Amino acid sequence: MGQKLAAYEPGAVPQKQGFIPLSVPEINGKAWEYVKECLDTNWVSSAGPFVDRFEQMCADYAGAEHATAIVNGTAALHTALLVAGVAPDDEVLVSTLTFIAPVNTIRYVGAWPVLVDAEPNHWQMDPQRVADFLDHKCTWDGNELRNKSTGRRVKCILPVHILGHPCDMDPLLAVGRKYNLTVIEDATESLGSEYKGRKCGHLADQGCYSFNGNKIITTGGGGMIVTDKAQWAEKAKYLSTQAKDDPIEYVHNEIGYNYRLTNIQAALGCAQMETFADTLAKKRAIAERYDAAFRDVPGISLMREAAWARSNFWMYTILIDQEAYGEDSRAVLWRLAKEDIQARPLWQPMHQSPACRTYQVLGGEVADRLHRDGLTLPCSAGLTVDDQTRVINAIRSRVR
Ligand SMILES: Cc1ncc(COP(=O)(O)O)c(C=O)c1O
Repeated sequence: MGQKLAAYEPGAVPQKQGFIPLSVPEINGKAWEYVKECLDTNWVSSAGPFVDRFEQMCADYAGAEHATAIVNGTAALHTALLVAGVAPDDEVLVSTLTFIAPVNTIRYVGAWPVLVDAEPNHWQMDPQRVADFLDHKCTWDGNELRNKSTGRRVKCILPVHILGHPCDMDPLLAVGRKYNLTVIEDATESLGSEYKGRKCGHLADQGCYSFNGNKIITTGGGGMIVTDKAQWAEKAKYLSTQAKDDPIEYVHNEIGYNYRLTNIQAALGCAQMETFADTLAKKRAIAERYDAAFRDVPGISLMREAAWARSNFWMYTILIDQEAYGEDSRAVLWRLAKEDIQARPLWQPMHQSPACRTYQVLGGEVADRLHRDGLTLPCSAGLTVDDQTRVINAIRSRVR
């Protein structure tokens, strides 16, 4: 166990005056009114008008035909894999530089992750590594693709749009189509981000969002699957509501899950979607201010937005080159912590995670470097200019 930072959970109120948290929700608009409506009408559980409305709002926003509300992003990914027919002993290609949830959900269905390195420019799943692996390390009989080293069937690609920046989806979709693979986007961090003018989450067969406390909008906890496939949406709803085939006689033909979002959570989601354009604009303004402040700082590299991308700037992250900057990312993290500024390293890449060490990995060196040098800075939508200036000054104070 490493050193502990001050106890902090997403959505918690900072304990100390002057503390600048990494990312906390902004609850505004009609949130209070809508939640009160749930309480007043007794629609508090996993059905109700706000669930339907939130689903419709998310489908419309993504430009998708269907949306299924799910209890959280992890459960959404689990359900999406089940719906896609990913089965025990299948393999799923997934980003190695990610929060662990998507990788765990692959194991929930009994399948095996194949971890894919990030590309160095935008830090997302490297499409070239995916294509090289599928073209050269697998066999294709015109129907099934098998990993030569394990003999297992490759079934799915699960790119994670990390930190709000999209993966380069066209080459992933092309190679997915070539081998008849399902592509599921982990868009949990990228609601509002765009790839070539299209919304993340609606670029592949299914996309999953999260509305966890630290996400760009929050329902306390929550998730959503969007898809254009009516049958898949129907199946997602079926599996997430205990696979009830006869609601009167309680007949179940399959194993189901209690994965539905509650009306109260959905009420919060509706209110947050109504003000989402404003939230996105605030996140972009924060990123632009940081970019301008750090552009000339020796040893600091910025997360560049690709020409084909529009990021939601969910988590503003920089890379710190120890030699050029004079301090490594962890020293900066602890120096900021002493100044009551909460920062965070990038996740330990999955191929380094003790829970995942046995999984096959394609590359990994880029993710390792990003993990070593990456530092995420406070970027709540409600971050004040004064607080952001404090963060900027703390980072710039090293410049000689
Ligand atoms: C990349 C990624 N995938 C999945 C999840 C899981 O979402 P949830 O916390 O809503 O279960 C998260 C975040 O929490 C995430 O960052």
